[in-house]
Amino acid sequence: MEKIALQQGFAKDVLDGLTAEKKYLSSKYFYNDRGSKIFRDIMRMPEYYLTDCELEIFKTHKDAMLKAFTENATRFELLELGAGDGLKTKILLKHFLSKAIDFKYAPIDISEEAVKTLINDLEKELPAVKTEGLVGDYFNLISNIGMNGYTKKVILFLGSNIGNFDEPTALHFLKQLRSAMNPQDQLLIGFDLKKDPQLILNAYNDPHGHTAAFNLNLLQRINDELHADFNLTNFAHREEYNPETGTARSFLVSLKKQQVTINETETTIRFEKDEKIFMEMSQKYDMQMINNLATRSGFEVENNFFDSREYFVNSLWERRS
Ligand code: AVJ
Repeated sequence: MEKIALQQGFAKDVLDGLTAEKKYLSSKYFYNDRGSKIFRDIMRMPEYYLTDCELEIFKTHKDAMLKAFTENATRFELLELGAGDGLKTKILLKHFLSKAIDFKYAPIDISEEAVKTLINDLEKELPAVKTEGLVGDYFNLISNIGMNGYTKKVILFLGSNIGNFDEPTALHFLKQLRSAMNPQDQLLIGFDLKKDPQLILNAYNDPHGHTAAFNLNLLQRINDELHADFNLTNFAHREEYNPETGTARSFLVSLKKQQVTINETETTIRFEKDEKIFMEMSQKYDMQMINNLATRSGFEVENNFFDSREYFVNSLWERRS
C-alpha cells in the first residue's frame, strides 16, 4: 500500500481556522480512523437517504454503466476517490465479475484503516477482483492518476463527496482531475440534488447523534494530536440549510464562554457563548448547476443515472477536447 504524507498541514490548518475572525475547521480532517467509523454509522442510518439512493442507482443502472465504460475499451481500471467501505461499489464489482470483464479496482481513501479493511473484505468476499489500495489526500493523488496511460480509467467520485467543496475549489479540483485524464477516460460523479429542505435537515440533524459525534470527533482529534483541552460537552452540533443556494452547513456552537489551549502550537483560543465553528458544507445541486460545473471544468455530460425519487444523480462525464 502506498502512503502519502497527510499530517503536514493539520496543525497549521487548525490554527488558521481557530484564529480566524469567523472560526472554521476543514471537514477533510474528519476522516481519521475513528471518524471513518462514525461515517459508516451515518451512511447506515435511514435519515441519510444519500446511501440508499446511490445503492438503488447502481442496482438499476449497473448494466447501462458497464456498457458506457466498455464502449471504447475492453479493459479498464476503476479508480475510486474516497472509497470508504465500498458498500455501493461492490454492486458494480459483482456485476463486472459476472460479465467476465477485465478490470482492476483501485480504492483511494484518506483513512489507512478504511483502505485496509476494504481490501481485506474484498479478498474474502470477491477474491477474483484485482485490487490495489492507495492511501492519501485526493489532491495529492490526482497527479498520479494519469501515469500508466495505457489502461482506460474510470474514476468514481461518489456519495456527493464533491459537495464538501465550495464552487471555486470544486472547479479547481475538477480541472485538475481532467488534466490527469486521457481522452477516453471517464468520470462518474455523484451529486445530491435539491429537495424538500426538511429531508435534508433530517439527514444532518439525526436523532441518533452520529452527525454530532462526527463533528465532535474533530475536536477530539485536535486534543489527541495537537495536545489541546477541548471539553466536548461544551460544544453542540447545529445544521443550517439554505434552499435557495442548496448549501447545507454544519457548525459546532460553543455552549458557554470558554477558552481552549492547544499545547502543540502554544495557542489559547477564546470562545464567546454561542460562537460557532463552521465545520462542513454539503452542497445540494440542480441539473443546471451540474451541467455548468461540467462545462466550466472542461467536461461533457454523457449520461445521467437517477434513483426513482430523483433525490440523487450519478453523472457520467467525458473530457471535452
Ligand atoms: C461524505 C461529504 C458526502 O456531506 O453528506 C455526512 C459527509 N457529513 N453527514 C455529506 C457527511 C455529515 C457527507 N459527504
